[in-house]
Amino acid sequence: MRASSISYPIAILSVVVGMLWGVHMAVSHDHSAMPAHAHLNLLGWVSLFLFGLFYQAHPAIDRGRLALFQVFIWIVGTVVMTIGVALVHTGSPASGEPLAGIGSIIVIIGMLLFGWIVMRR
Ligand code: HEM
Repeated sequence: MRASSISYPIAILSVVVGMLWGVHMAVSHDHSAMPAHAHLNLLGWVSLFLFGLFYQAHPAIDRGRLALFQVFIWIVGTVVMTIGVALVHTGSPASGEPLAGIGSIIVIIGMLLFGWIVMRR
């Protein structure tokens, strides 16, 4: 399985969910979850799609398990962080803060790993 074949569909799914979330915020006039919407769109859509473009441009890396692992932990980190940030900004900071913290550490590891994959190619 290729890393890009995972990152593209999950990126599309993220932006569809993120846009529906944006529409819901606009219609309800409740923008309190805006930071979570922004993180889902920027980590889940923009970053994940960029990873897919890089991996597709480097087929040998795209086929490797390291790229697949990098995309996998990025998706996990994005979901955990988005839920955590949403809870923090919608009145449940006690449960949201640990999730936001764990999610942010996971995406930092994911970005360091991606940086290493890019630099050693
Ligand atoms: C149907 C599509 C979308 C709708 C209806 C929507 C709606 C919204 C709304 C209502 C806000 C809150 C604005 C405020 O309170 O000042 C917001 C903020 C934001 N959105 Fe979206 N959004 C959409 C798509 C996207 C996408 C695709 C991205 C990123 C690629 C994105 C990134 C952001 C960011 C970064 C903010 C925070 C802006 C700030 O800090 O002022 N949104 N969006």
